[in-house]
Amino acid sequence: MEKKPSLVLLVAFTLFIVGVIGTVILPYFDGEINEPTANAEARNYKVDSAEARGREVYIQNGCQTCHTQFVRSVQADINQNLGPATAGGDYKYDLPHLMGSNRTGPDLMWVGTRWNESWQRQHLIDPQSTSPGSIMPSFAYLSEQEMKDLIAYLMSLKPADAKPK
Ligand code: HEC
Repeated sequence: MEKKPSLVLLVAFTLFIVGVIGTVILPYFDGEINEPTANAEARNYKVDSAEARGREVYIQNGCQTCHTQFVRSVQADINQNLGPATAGGDYKYDLPHLMGSNRTGPDLMWVGTRWNESWQRQHLIDPQSTSPGSIMPSFAYLSEQEMKDLIAYLMSLKPADAKPK
């Protein structure tokens, strides 16, 4: 085998292509993943709406480095009562997507169903006051406008059918 580097390369390349077809090409044509869901429509914020601006504040302040926005249908997520499992189509308009990969804090996909606006404000200003022992940093330095927009964004994070029309 080691005497035939071209064969090794060919096998490696073939495996790579199989991987690309399975994880990139086929999902691209999978309607179930690509069809925007009602949740995607609910998160398709109008340009310059409070929620769209709040989403920018979320990104600028690195919330996504400690919080994910996806719920899996696994026991660990069900135990935490994070809400319904999310589907590919929920992220159709989520650009750049904020799924994240690190849960230093809880998942925020449906956090709009868990707390009200005044709790959100109090928690962002002084996390330890609402959540004793929290290691989340204070965001008291945000301007009043940024704070309002960020809270509007957080409150919008709920399943589409939980939203009053
Ligand atoms: C250094 C990591 C870290 C960063 C950065 C961070 N958080 Fe948190 N967050 C946490 C931790 C840990 C908790 C759980 C304890 C608590 O409630 O404070 C939490 C909890 C929360 C909760 C309550 C979730 C629930 O279901 O109870 C919300 C809402 C939240 N964070 C929003 C934000 C927003 C918005 C930002 C950005 C402005 C942010 N976090 C940045 C670590 C972080």
